[in-house]
Amino acid sequence: MTHHDIPSGLACKIDSTDGKHSFFEEEIRKLPISVCSVFLDEEGKIRPAAFRATETALTSKDHERTHRVFPLTVRLNQNVVLEATSPQTPAKIAGKRVAVLFSGGPAAGGHNVLAGLKAVIGKDNTLLGIRKGPKGLINGDVFEVACKQLKDIVNTGGFDFLGTDRTKIKTPQQFEKVKETVVKNRLDGLVIVGGDDSNTNAAFIAEYLEREGVQCSVIGIPKTIDGDMAVGNYLPISFGFDTASKVYSELVGNLTQDAASAVKYWHFVKLMGRTASKITLEVALQTKPAVALISEEVAENNMSLEGIVEYIVNILTERRLKGINHGVVLVPEGLVEFIPEMRTLIKELNKVLAEYETDIRDLPTLENKKEFIYPLLPPQSAQLMASLPEEIQEMLILDRDEHGNVKVSQIETEKLLIDKIRYRVSEIKRHPNKFFGEGEGKLKATPEQVERIKSLSLSTQSHFLGYEGRSGKPTLFDAAFTFNLGLTAGSLVLAGKTGYMAAVTDFDKGGKALALPLSGLITTEERMGKVEEVIEKSLVKLTSPSFEAFAENRDRWAQQDLFSSPGPIQHWGPTSRQIPISVALDQGYTDYRIFKLGEERKVEFE
Ligand code: FBP
Repeated sequence: MTHHDIPSGLACKIDSTDGKHSFFEEEIRKLPISVCSVFLDEEGKIRPAAFRATETALTSKDHERTHRVFPLTVRLNQNVVLEATSPQTPAKIAGKRVAVLFSGGPAAGGHNVLAGLKAVIGKDNTLLGIRKGPKGLINGDVFEVACKQLKDIVNTGGFDFLGTDRTKIKTPQQFEKVKETVVKNRLDGLVIVGGDDSNTNAAFIAEYLEREGVQCSVIGIPKTIDGDMAVGNYLPISFGFDTASKVYSELVGNLTQDAASAVKYWHFVKLMGRTASKITLEVALQTKPAVALISEEVAENNMSLEGIVEYIVNILTERRLKGINHGVVLVPEGLVEFIPEMRTLIKELNKVLAEYETDIRDLPTLENKKEFIYPLLPPQSAQLMASLPEEIQEMLILDRDEHGNVKVSQIETEKLLIDKIRYRVSEIKRHPNKFFGEGEGKLKATPEQVERIKSLSLSTQSHFLGYEGRSGKPTLFDAAFTFNLGLTAGSLVLAGKTGYMAAVTDFDKGGKALALPLSGLITTEERMGKVEEVIEKSLVKLTSPSFEAFAENRDRWAQQDLFSSPGPIQHWGPTSRQIPISVALDQGYTDYRIFKLGEERKVEFE
């Protein structure tokens, strides 16, 4: 059939899906969203919740210092967790202006935070959007969000409606500009949707505005696909984690299937997630690959880079002895920062970079910078640095984000491992007696098996699954979670609370909305050689039920092909209401296949 033979009616349909109007996107906008009962009145309509103090006060490990840094917010909230309740007599609040911004990397569900905010503040109050993240807040890039726009973005993925960036608000001039934006736009509320660094920003802005006598509620929303913004039972996970880990699980599931079908490839998959290995753990529980590395375990066991290589090569060889010459290896994005010798190197490098910041900046070429920096490093670290591939050295020296973090997403750890594994596998072939036979650390193999292994070639493929998981259409869980976070944040603003992060918990029991005092979450960390206030990242705990479940099963997954494929994200039907397995395990839920976040509502905007 040529282009001219396509029936004109169908050609029209193709045009009509331009600009996010695919058949799928149109249907997804109509999907109802679960709403926690605390936000519903007797007639089942959405209304703001009230808040009551719980008996829990949060104390981080550096709380004395945080009390000094955030004296006003701590005096106001006493670091006490608030719980949303049904208001006795719902107050009629009108004329409030609430602005919202996205900060950091995109995560699925951000648009539903806006939908939830507008739904709860209602038509008598105004929702404003801040374009391009914290930078837009500094520059006063504010606009009124129209109901028509909310109809278009509800249940859709991405952060494109507002845009985002990673500007860190730190200088007195920047804070002054933030105040200007708040005052000029008469903001009663400022909602910051972000991860640990952005919520730390929120805590500082709340304290600053309070000090300046500007009445504006500053509320954070826990976002990040990394899943490291989590607070035990008060906040099981950040939004976006569920969608991202399901996207990756589908793809890794397909790779495990392909590996077993083509029977010739070892796939090395680096998975996004920055520091924490939470995504890798979840994807491993979903797909059961031959190997999944967990950075937190690597650090705990003091595993060197060579140790990790040996671990993978042993599994690879044992599988080969069984006739399985393929498999999938999952590598968490932040692995290099957890390998003890690398961690020491990054720390020492950070110190030098901070101390000689301007001298290093002024040097014209990377070579010049290296010549300057390496003699200042302790010899072991200088040696290790010089032994790394050129691109990794460059990344560690030049490429940091606004918050001083190493851009781990750009480091090709999966390729580094492949290179080293290849070398070791060739060593096995060249010196089989060192690896096979009797004795400690040696593998048992018949002479025939050894001969067979010597004849095998190692075919590898490397993948990085990262950006493709951040902006997918939110799962039903992320869509509901974010909508309820928006309802919580809007209610907090209407209640005049400041310096809190909205949270939702009890995903198996209808949902409980909470407000966590930001100052109670803050601790200190060394960044680029300086001690700074930050919200502590929630990493994989080796004593957690999710890690234990993985550790109990991984040897079986290594020894045989027991992979499973969770399939694509479903938005309708029996598999559409799943939550992450790791979250369900760690929260002590009895199942992960059904979430309950209240009654479903079709959300209308007038
Ligand atoms: P946030 O913590 O800001 O949500 O970002 C998460 C993340 O996707 C990380 O997993 C990744 O390391 C990083 O962003 C990549 O950042 P960038 O978009 O700047 O390349």
